[in-house]
Amino acid sequence: MIQAKGIHKSFKENRVLNGVDVHFNRGQANLIIGSSGSGKTVFLKTILGLHQPDQGQIIYDGEVLSEMSKQRAKKLRQEIGMLFQGGALFDSMTVAQNIRFPLEMFSELTAHQMDERVKFVMNRVRLEGADSKFPSEISGGMQKRVSIARAISMSPKYLFCDEPNSGLDPETAIVIDQLIHEITHEFDMTTIVNTHDMNSVLEIGDHVIFMKGGHKVWEGNSSEVLKSTNEDVEEYVFRSKLFKQVRQALR
Ligand SMILES: Nc1ncnc2c1ncn2[C@@H]1O[C@H](COP(=O)(O)OP(=O)(O)OP(=O)(O)O)[C@@H](O)[C@H]1O
Ligand SMILES: [Mg+2]
Repeated sequence: MIQAKGIHKSFKENRVLNGVDVHFNRGQANLIIGSSGSGKTVFLKTILGLHQPDQGQIIYDGEVLSEMSKQRAKKLRQEIGMLFQGGALFDSMTVAQNIRFPLEMFSELTAHQMDERVKFVMNRVRLEGADSKFPSEISGGMQKRVSIARAISMSPKYLFCDEPNSGLDPETAIVIDQLIHEITHEFDMTTIVNTHDMNSVLEIGDHVIFMKGGHKVWEGNSSEVLKSTNEDVEEYVFRSKLFKQVRQALR
Protein backbone atom coordinates (compact mmCIF):
# COMPACT_ATOMS: atom_id res chain seq x y z
CA MET A 1 0.00 0.00 0.00
CA ILE A 2 1.15 3.50 -0.79
CA GLN A 3 -0.16 6.45 1.11
CA ALA A 4 0.00 10.10 0.02
CA LYS A 5 -0.60 12.40 2.98
CA GLY A 6 -1.36 16.10 2.52
CA ILE A 7 0.79 16.51 -0.58
CA HIS A 8 1.39 20.08 -1.72
CA LYS A 9 3.50 20.96 -4.74
CA SER A 10 3.93 24.27 -6.51
CA PHE A 11 6.10 25.42 -9.37
CA LYS A 12 6.69 29.09 -8.61
CA GLU A 13 3.16 30.62 -8.52
CA ASN A 14 1.54 27.56 -10.03
CA ARG A 15 -0.02 25.48 -7.24
CA VAL A 16 -0.30 22.07 -8.83
CA LEU A 17 -1.05 19.83 -5.83
CA ASN A 18 -3.08 21.34 -3.01
CA GLY A 19 -3.13 18.83 -0.19
CA VAL A 20 -3.76 15.45 -1.79
CA ASP A 21 -4.61 12.52 0.47
CA VAL A 22 -4.90 9.07 -1.12
CA HIS A 23 -4.45 5.43 -0.15
CA PHE A 24 -3.35 3.28 -3.07
CA ASN A 25 -4.32 -0.27 -2.27
CA ARG A 26 -2.23 -3.34 -2.83
CA GLY A 27 -3.42 -5.88 -5.39
CA GLN A 28 -5.57 -3.27 -7.08
CA ALA A 29 -5.42 -1.09 -10.17
CA ASN A 30 -5.64 2.43 -8.71
CA LEU A 31 -6.58 4.79 -11.53
CA ILE A 32 -6.01 8.53 -11.40
CA ILE A 33 -8.25 10.47 -13.76
CA GLY A 34 -8.81 14.17 -14.37
CA SER A 35 -8.45 16.63 -17.18
CA SER A 36 -5.16 17.65 -18.76
CA GLY A 37 -3.09 19.79 -16.42
CA SER A 38 -4.85 18.56 -13.27
CA GLY A 39 -1.53 17.36 -11.88
CA LYS A 40 -1.63 13.58 -12.47
CA THR A 41 1.92 13.30 -13.79
CA VAL A 42 3.32 15.66 -11.16
CA PHE A 43 1.58 13.55 -8.51
CA LEU A 44 3.00 10.29 -9.88
CA LYS A 45 6.48 11.79 -10.07
CA THR A 46 6.12 13.02 -6.49
CA ILE A 47 5.18 9.52 -5.36
CA LEU A 48 8.28 8.24 -7.15
CA GLY A 49 10.46 10.83 -5.45
CA LEU A 50 11.30 12.60 -8.73
CA HIS A 51 9.63 15.74 -7.34
CA GLN A 52 10.04 16.81 -3.72
CA PRO A 53 6.68 17.77 -2.19
CA ASP A 54 6.58 21.23 -0.52
CA GLN A 55 4.49 19.66 2.23
CA GLY A 56 3.22 16.19 3.04
CA GLN A 57 4.51 12.65 3.03
CA ILE A 58 4.65 9.65 0.73
CA ILE A 59 4.56 6.38 2.64
CA TYR A 60 5.46 3.02 1.08
CA ASP A 61 4.07 0.17 3.17
CA GLY A 62 4.64 2.12 6.37
CA GLU A 63 7.99 3.64 5.39
CA VAL A 64 8.18 7.39 4.83
CA LEU A 65 9.96 8.07 1.53
CA SER A 66 11.70 11.26 2.67
CA GLU A 67 13.05 9.51 5.78
CA MET A 68 14.56 6.52 3.98
CA SER A 69 18.31 6.08 3.88
CA LYS A 70 19.95 6.45 0.46
CA GLN A 71 20.49 2.72 0.40
CA ARG A 72 16.85 1.93 1.23
CA ALA A 73 15.61 4.44 -1.37
CA LYS A 74 17.83 2.81 -3.96
CA LYS A 75 16.41 -0.60 -3.09
CA LEU A 76 12.88 0.81 -3.28
CA ARG A 77 13.54 2.04 -6.83
CA GLN A 78 14.22 -1.57 -7.78
CA GLU A 79 10.86 -2.58 -6.36
CA ILE A 80 9.09 -0.14 -8.68
CA GLY A 81 8.16 -0.98 -12.26
CA MET A 82 7.48 1.97 -14.52
CA LEU A 83 5.63 2.36 -17.75
CA PHE A 84 5.91 5.83 -19.12
CA GLN A 85 4.34 7.52 -22.10
CA GLY A 86 6.06 6.49 -25.32
CA GLY A 87 7.38 3.27 -23.78
CA ALA A 88 11.01 4.41 -23.81
CA LEU A 89 12.45 1.24 -25.34
CA PHE A 90 16.06 1.18 -26.47
CA ASP A 91 15.92 1.18 -30.27
CA SER A 92 19.29 -0.46 -30.72
CA MET A 93 18.42 -3.40 -28.47
CA THR A 94 16.26 -6.37 -29.36
CA VAL A 95 13.04 -7.10 -27.49
CA ALA A 96 14.77 -9.69 -25.31
CA GLN A 97 17.71 -7.35 -24.58
CA ASN A 98 15.32 -4.56 -23.60
CA ILE A 99 13.53 -6.83 -21.13
CA ARG A 100 16.82 -8.21 -19.81
CA PHE A 101 18.31 -4.76 -19.24
CA PRO A 102 17.03 -4.12 -15.67
CA LEU A 103 18.10 -7.64 -14.68
CA GLU A 104 21.62 -7.01 -15.98
CA MET A 105 21.68 -3.67 -14.18
CA PHE A 106 20.19 -4.53 -10.83
CA SER A 107 19.76 -8.24 -10.20
CA GLU A 108 22.19 -10.80 -8.90
CA LEU A 109 20.81 -13.50 -11.15
CA THR A 110 23.05 -15.79 -13.19
CA ALA A 111 22.90 -15.59 -16.99
CA HIS A 112 20.78 -18.72 -17.08
CA GLN A 113 18.37 -17.37 -14.45
CA MET A 114 18.06 -14.15 -16.45
CA ASP A 115 17.26 -16.14 -19.60
CA GLU A 116 14.55 -17.97 -17.68
CA ARG A 117 13.10 -14.78 -16.24
CA VAL A 118 13.05 -13.06 -19.64
CA LYS A 119 11.29 -16.10 -21.09
CA PHE A 120 8.75 -16.11 -18.26
CA VAL A 121 7.78 -12.43 -18.56
CA MET A 122 7.75 -12.61 -22.36
CA ASN A 123 5.31 -15.51 -22.19
CA ARG A 124 3.27 -13.68 -19.57
CA VAL A 125 2.68 -10.72 -21.91
CA ARG A 126 2.28 -13.05 -24.89
CA LEU A 127 5.39 -11.99 -26.79
CA GLU A 128 6.64 -15.49 -27.59
CA GLY A 129 8.92 -15.56 -30.61
CA ALA A 130 9.64 -11.83 -30.67
CA ASP A 131 13.01 -12.17 -28.86
CA SER A 132 15.28 -11.02 -31.65
CA LYS A 133 13.03 -8.35 -33.16
CA PHE A 134 13.91 -4.67 -32.77
CA PRO A 135 11.34 -2.15 -31.44
CA SER A 136 11.02 -0.56 -34.90
CA GLU A 137 9.95 -3.91 -36.33
CA ILE A 138 6.95 -4.47 -34.05
CA SER A 139 3.56 -2.75 -33.62
CA GLY A 140 2.76 -0.09 -31.01
CA GLY A 141 0.74 -2.59 -28.98
CA MET A 142 3.64 -5.05 -28.99
CA GLN A 143 6.07 -2.29 -27.98
CA LYS A 144 3.79 -1.53 -25.06
CA ARG A 145 3.84 -5.19 -24.07
CA VAL A 146 7.65 -5.16 -24.20
CA SER A 147 7.58 -2.15 -21.86
CA ILE A 148 5.27 -4.03 -19.50
CA ALA A 149 7.49 -7.12 -19.61
CA ARG A 150 10.51 -4.95 -18.83
CA ALA A 151 8.64 -3.19 -16.03
CA ILE A 152 7.75 -6.48 -14.34
CA SER A 153 11.07 -8.27 -15.02
CA MET A 154 12.35 -7.45 -11.52
CA SER A 155 9.08 -8.66 -9.86
CA PRO A 156 8.18 -5.17 -8.62
CA LYS A 157 5.90 -4.58 -5.65
CA TYR A 158 4.72 -1.33 -7.19
CA LEU A 159 3.78 -0.59 -10.79
CA PHE A 160 3.32 2.95 -12.09
CA CYS A 161 1.88 3.68 -15.52
CA ASP A 162 1.48 7.16 -16.97
CA GLU A 163 -1.05 7.11 -19.82
CA PRO A 164 -0.29 3.53 -20.89
CA ASN A 165 -2.84 3.74 -23.71
CA SER A 166 -1.58 6.84 -25.43
CA GLY A 167 -1.11 6.26 -29.13
CA LEU A 168 -2.95 2.94 -29.15
CA ASP A 169 -6.16 2.10 -30.99
CA PRO A 170 -9.11 1.35 -28.66
CA GLU A 171 -8.92 -2.42 -29.15
CA THR A 172 -5.22 -2.62 -28.35
CA ALA A 173 -5.75 -0.23 -25.45
CA ILE A 174 -8.21 -2.70 -23.89
CA VAL A 175 -5.70 -5.55 -24.27
CA ILE A 176 -3.02 -3.48 -22.53
CA ASP A 177 -5.44 -2.41 -19.77
CA GLN A 178 -6.49 -5.98 -19.13
CA LEU A 179 -2.89 -7.10 -19.01
CA ILE A 180 -2.05 -4.42 -16.44
CA HIS A 181 -5.10 -5.44 -14.42
CA GLU A 182 -4.29 -9.17 -14.59
CA ILE A 183 -0.66 -8.83 -13.54
CA THR A 184 -1.62 -6.45 -10.73
CA HIS A 185 -3.86 -9.11 -9.21
CA GLU A 186 -1.61 -12.04 -10.10
CA PHE A 187 1.54 -10.54 -8.55
CA ASP A 188 -0.31 -8.59 -5.84
CA MET A 189 1.24 -5.28 -6.87
CA THR A 190 0.21 -1.79 -5.83
CA THR A 191 -0.51 -0.34 -9.26
CA ILE A 192 -1.13 3.31 -10.06
CA VAL A 193 -2.30 4.27 -13.54
CA ASN A 194 -2.77 7.81 -14.83
CA THR A 195 -5.31 7.85 -17.61
CA HIS A 196 -7.69 9.91 -19.71
CA ASP A 197 -9.39 6.83 -20.99
CA MET A 198 -12.94 6.32 -19.76
CA ASN A 199 -12.88 2.76 -21.14
CA SER A 200 -9.97 1.99 -18.82
CA VAL A 201 -11.89 3.39 -15.88
CA LEU A 202 -14.86 1.15 -16.57
CA GLU A 203 -12.81 -1.94 -17.47
CA ILE A 204 -10.14 -2.03 -14.79
CA GLY A 205 -10.86 0.70 -12.23
CA ASP A 206 -10.67 -1.19 -8.94
CA HIS A 207 -10.10 2.18 -7.27
CA VAL A 208 -10.62 5.43 -9.14
CA ILE A 209 -9.34 8.81 -7.98
CA PHE A 210 -10.62 11.96 -9.67
CA MET A 211 -8.29 14.96 -9.53
CA LYS A 212 -9.16 18.59 -10.15
CA GLY A 213 -7.37 21.80 -9.26
CA GLY A 214 -4.73 19.96 -7.30
CA HIS A 215 -7.27 18.17 -5.11
CA LYS A 216 -8.75 14.71 -5.00
CA VAL A 217 -12.40 15.63 -5.56
CA TRP A 218 -13.85 12.12 -5.74
CA GLU A 219 -12.92 8.47 -5.30
CA GLY A 220 -14.75 5.21 -5.78
CA ASN A 221 -14.72 2.18 -8.08
CA SER A 222 -15.60 1.62 -11.73
CA SER A 223 -19.29 0.96 -11.08
CA GLU A 224 -19.67 3.89 -8.70
CA VAL A 225 -18.17 6.31 -11.20
CA LEU A 226 -21.22 6.02 -13.46
CA LYS A 227 -23.60 6.73 -10.59
CA SER A 228 -21.60 9.54 -9.05
CA THR A 229 -23.51 12.74 -8.44
CA ASN A 230 -20.31 14.76 -8.12
CA GLU A 231 -20.64 17.51 -10.73
CA ASP A 232 -17.07 17.27 -11.95
CA VAL A 233 -17.21 13.49 -12.30
CA GLU A 234 -20.58 13.67 -14.09
CA GLU A 235 -19.20 16.18 -16.55
CA TYR A 236 -16.17 14.01 -17.23
CA VAL A 237 -18.19 10.82 -17.67
CA PHE A 238 -20.96 12.46 -19.67
CA ARG A 239 -18.47 13.91 -22.09
CA SER A 240 -17.08 10.47 -22.70
CA LYS A 241 -20.56 8.94 -23.04
CA LEU A 242 -21.40 11.50 -25.66
CA PHE A 243 -18.24 10.58 -27.45
CA LYS A 244 -19.26 6.93 -27.40
CA GLN A 245 -22.73 7.73 -28.80
CA VAL A 246 -21.19 9.67 -31.67
CA ARG A 247 -18.87 6.76 -32.40
CA GLN A 248 -21.82 4.35 -32.29
CA ALA A 249 -23.82 6.55 -34.67
CA LEU A 250 -20.96 6.64 -37.14
CA ARG A 251 -20.74 2.85 -37.34
N1 LIG B 1 8.74 20.45 -14.08
C1 LIG B 1 7.77 21.35 -14.07
N2 LIG B 1 8.05 22.66 -13.87
C2 LIG B 1 7.06 23.56 -13.83
N3 LIG B 1 5.76 23.28 -13.99
C3 LIG B 1 5.41 22.02 -14.20
C4 LIG B 1 6.41 20.98 -14.24
N4 LIG B 1 5.77 19.80 -14.45
C5 LIG B 1 4.46 20.09 -14.54
N5 LIG B 1 4.22 21.40 -14.39
C6 LIG B 1 2.90 22.05 -14.38
O1 LIG B 1 2.07 21.32 -13.52
C7 LIG B 1 0.72 21.29 -13.99
C8 LIG B 1 0.20 19.88 -14.00
O2 LIG B 1 0.89 19.13 -14.98
P1 LIG B 1 0.76 17.57 -15.14
O3 LIG B 1 1.70 17.18 -16.22
O4 LIG B 1 0.90 16.91 -13.84
O5 LIG B 1 -0.74 17.40 -15.64
P2 LIG B 1 -1.49 16.06 -16.07
O6 LIG B 1 -2.71 15.95 -15.24
O7 LIG B 1 -0.55 14.92 -16.05
O8 LIG B 1 -1.92 16.40 -17.55
P3 LIG B 1 -2.04 15.43 -18.83
O9 LIG B 1 -3.36 14.74 -18.65
O10 LIG B 1 -2.05 16.36 -19.99
O11 LIG B 1 -0.88 14.48 -18.84
C9 LIG B 1 0.75 21.98 -15.34
O12 LIG B 1 0.28 23.29 -15.15
C10 LIG B 1 2.21 21.98 -15.72
O13 LIG B 1 2.52 23.08 -16.49
MG1 LIG C 1 0.22 13.63 -17.47
